[in-house]
Amino acid sequence: MALTPTEFRTALRSFAAGVTVVTTRDREGRPSGLTASAFTSVSLVPPLVLVCVDHAATAHPDFREHGWFAVNVLRREQEALSRRFAVSGGDKFEGVAYREGSSGLPLLEGTLAALECRLVEAHEAGDHTIFIGLVESATVKGGRPLIYFLSGYHSVSGDTVAPASEGGQP
Ligand SMILES: Cc1cc2nc3c(=O)[nH]c(=O)nc-3n(C[C@H](O)[C@H](O)[C@H](O)COP(=O)(O)O)c2cc1C
Repeated sequence: MALTPTEFRTALRSFAAGVTVVTTRDREGRPSGLTASAFTSVSLVPPLVLVCVDHAATAHPDFREHGWFAVNVLRREQEALSRRFAVSGGDKFEGVAYREGSSGLPLLEGTLAALECRLVEAHEAGDHTIFIGLVESATVKGGRPLIYFLSGYHSVSGDTVAPASEGGQP
């Protein structure tokens, strides 16, 4: 009995995920990026993370060509940024406040956390590429995360998130 695409999407809708905007630069050096919830930690030592990017995404070739990407973890107040970076094409960065990280990557202002990663592996998987990055620097600010669940935006209650401490789980 084959799983239909609708059944698959319905099952995935029940997984609550944080929301990131993954940024890099195109071959002309312009900032590029997209909203991505297919992000996870992979390894603590060395510090590795992955993000899955659709082959059809405009920014897809930029990840491999630039060789670096940044993961901007959105706060609950940044739903508009998530929506903006989920619209294909155009200049997503127009009017968006961002700064350059130590590796020159565009880092969005006001995020919960930002990770600057050097691309170390890329694996094809169906219609996506799994980009694995070695985290070269990380900054964490206080705040609550933006959560995507049942095709809608949510957050979590609880205390403000403190910067990560030594010895925690990845
Ligand atoms: C909450 C949310 C999560 C998403 N997660 C991913 C993801 O993990 N990987 C991906 O390739 N696209 C993801 N998308 C879709 C892309 O953001 C969307 O296709 C975007 O238009 C791509 O932009 P581009 O084609 O200009 O590069 C997500 C969209 C939303 C709203």
